[in-house]
Amino acid sequence: MDYILGIETSCDETAAAVVDTSGLIYSNIIASQIDTHKDYGGVIPELASRLHVEAINITIEQALQKAAKTMTDISAIAVTQGPGLLGALLIGLQAAKTLAYIHQKPLIAVNHLEGHIFANFVADKHTGLPEPGGRPAQAPCPFLCLIVSGGHTQIVLAPEAGVYQTVGQTIDDAAGEAYDKVARILQLGYPGGPLVDRLAQSGNPDALKFSKARIRAPESEFDFSFSGLKTSVLNYHRKYPEAKPADICAAFQKTAVDMLLENTLAAAELYNVQHIYLAGGVAANHTLRRTLTAESAKQGRQAHIPELALCTDNAAMIAGAAIHKWQKKEFAGLNIQARPGWELGYGTRL
Ligand code: KG4
Ligand code: ZN
Repeated sequence: MDYILGIETSCDETAAAVVDTSGLIYSNIIASQIDTHKDYGGVIPELASRLHVEAINITIEQALQKAAKTMTDISAIAVTQGPGLLGALLIGLQAAKTLAYIHQKPLIAVNHLEGHIFANFVADKHTGLPEPGGRPAQAPCPFLCLIVSGGHTQIVLAPEAGVYQTVGQTIDDAAGEAYDKVARILQLGYPGGPLVDRLAQSGNPDALKFSKARIRAPESEFDFSFSGLKTSVLNYHRKYPEAKPADICAAFQKTAVDMLLENTLAAAELYNVQHIYLAGGVAANHTLRRTLTAESAKQGRQAHIPELALCTDNAAMIAGAAIHKWQKKEFAGLNIQARPGWELGYGTRL
């Protein structure tokens, strides 16, 4: 069996993992910086870089140790090349290049968003795969994936693993960003997504109503806009300061999830795909998970959702996305540079 060491440092988690080339996770270590950044209400790039420097070596060591592997057992090193914060990406890349050079292992450059997609195709060695047959070699292509993270909101169509056509994307805020901003408006804390999600569970989604943004241009019928929704929440909160935060969260969440699902399900119909995947930090959202599963089933389609722990940034998903590249021997040179604005989309053969 071949083992891939994955390294992820694109934002505020220093992460390393060992995954075998069938998609089983042997270790998945995450050193989170959230406690530091939350004092500032968001990620401070300079601080993130410094904390990655402090944590990277120990995180990689722990990943190898927990997997009971040494560098001799590792067949390739996969690292996030982008998108993300430049100073943060550089730390993971430097660590990966150094290990690849010293131990003479191939380096695999991974797009962070493709990593999120592959959170669907890896699973813990002990618990097994959530869906047998869902491994990379057998990914049921074509499939559609809704990627919803802090920086991106995008629907991609994958005719095969590694080839992605963007069929819809946000024209302003990402879904996670909207969640974080609503949490800031309501002074709930950071990161806001999980806090809004939790509070929304005890609120009444029909106590008030926010309207959905629709983008009517035919060439962008599956695009999203979340900036207006965020402003509506701000205006409502200012106008009705006595309104229950739980109701505001529930109504916001209902609208945001409806917008995400409407476009995703319409795209699934147009492209006639049977399998709809969910990926990215917002995939941890309870309402989104539940509603996507139910609505897809109504259309006769199957929704696939990563395990909760694999939705937010981690390195197992990065190693997972490297498996098809390992099989095709798509290796990177040691001179690769960070790509902070690397888009995942058509023409990008990853
Ligand atoms: O994918 P991710 O870990 O980092 C990026 O690549 O951006 O996503 C982080 C985003 C944050 O905006 C966070 O608030 C959001 O995912 N998030 C959630 C939930 N858990 C995390 N949003 C809604 N509901 C959640 N349960
Ligand atoms: Zn992410």
